Formats: sequence, C-alpha cells, structure tokens
Amino acid sequence: MNDLHPDLAQVVVSTEQIQSRVKELADQISADFTNGENLYLVGILKGAFMFLADLTRHLKVSHTVDFMALSSYGKTTSSGAVRILMDLREPIENEHLIIVEDIVDSGQTLDYLHRVLKGRNPASLHSCVLVRKQRDNLDVPIDYLGFEIPDVWVVGYGLDFADKHRTLPYIAELKRD
Ligand code: IMP
Ligand code: MG
Repeated sequence: MNDLHPDLAQVVVSTEQIQSRVKELADQISADFTNGENLYLVGILKGAFMFLADLTRHLKVSHTVDFMALSSYGKTTSSGAVRILMDLREPIENEHLIIVEDIVDSGQTLDYLHRVLKGRNPASLHSCVLVRKQRDNLDVPIDYLGFEIPDVWVVGYGLDFADKHRTLPYIAELKRD
C-alpha cells in the first residue's frame, strides 16, 4: 500500500484478511452454538465496535448485543489498572456470553472482564478477540482468536493511538519516533 498515512509504518493485517477471518470466526461461533440458546455478545468500547459490527452480520444464530466501556490509565499504552466506565444495561444471569475484544496485549483487560462477568453468573462465558500480540501475557483464555501479531503498537479497524486512526479498514503498525 503506497498511500499509507505518514504516521504508519506498514500494514499488519489487510482489509481482505480481516474480512475473511471475521467471517470464519462468525461461522465457527455459529457452528458451536446450535442448541437454540440466544448468544449475548458484549462488545468492549471503543475498540471493538467495528469488529462486533462485522462479526454480527455473519452470525447465523440468535444473538443480542450490548457494550461495556473500560478505562485503563494510559491513553496510548496499555497499563495495569482497569475500571468500568460504562456497564451493561441488563443483568446477564443465565445468558450465554461472548466477550468481543479488539486486542489482547498484557491480558489484564480480558482477565479483569472474565472475573467481573463470571461473578454475575452467566450460563457460559467465552471470548472472541481479533488480535493478540505475541508477547508474555497473562494466561487468559481466548476461545476465538483472529490473528497473532508482533508486539508493536497497531491502529485501525477500531484500534487507536490517542483516538486517531481508529476507522481505517485495515490494521497497521504505528511508526515509532
Ligand atoms: P491489555 O489489558 O494489556 O491486554 O490491553 C488491552 C487494551 O489496551 C486493549 O483493549 C486496547 O484498548 C489497548 N491496546 C493494547 N495494545 C494496543 C495496540 O497496539 N493498539 C491499540 N490499542 C491497544
Ligand atoms: Mg480495548
């Protein structure tokens, strides 16, 4: 891609790769939940908005969508402390939950979500993550994973750097300065 924004070093996952993998993930989920139970997808804002929107359009099983917004302290790094900025609207007891996350870096966020949501007694709890960085992260289970990428800061397809580059249709590595 020669019209890359000057902030960006290279494309890490192309639009075509994302689109075909998202459909595969939706097909896998559809095949795994065939007992007629409604799925409850929990999208984590802001990063997962595009992934969730594309994923749900390929799902062939009954599902509900809700969102949570979390905050960690650094805006452009992923840092330890996580807190809930916006919670789910309804109780999720006895629901079949799937956490839909953009990226797992250290694993702190997903680990926190697992603990919080498990405590609300869902019928089941799974996670669907578009990208995981190849680094030492917490041993947090990911049931549906799109891509493993190198340990670099990436933007696009929901992912941002200080709220920039979030709406690119592909995932690209940010240049280091
Ligand atoms: P973790 O808690 O360290 O796994 O980080 C997860 C959160 O940090 C993600 O949900 C993102 O919001 C953010 N994050 C981590 N790495 C990146 C990245 O490369 N680009 C954009 N956001 C990232
Ligand atoms: Mg996130």
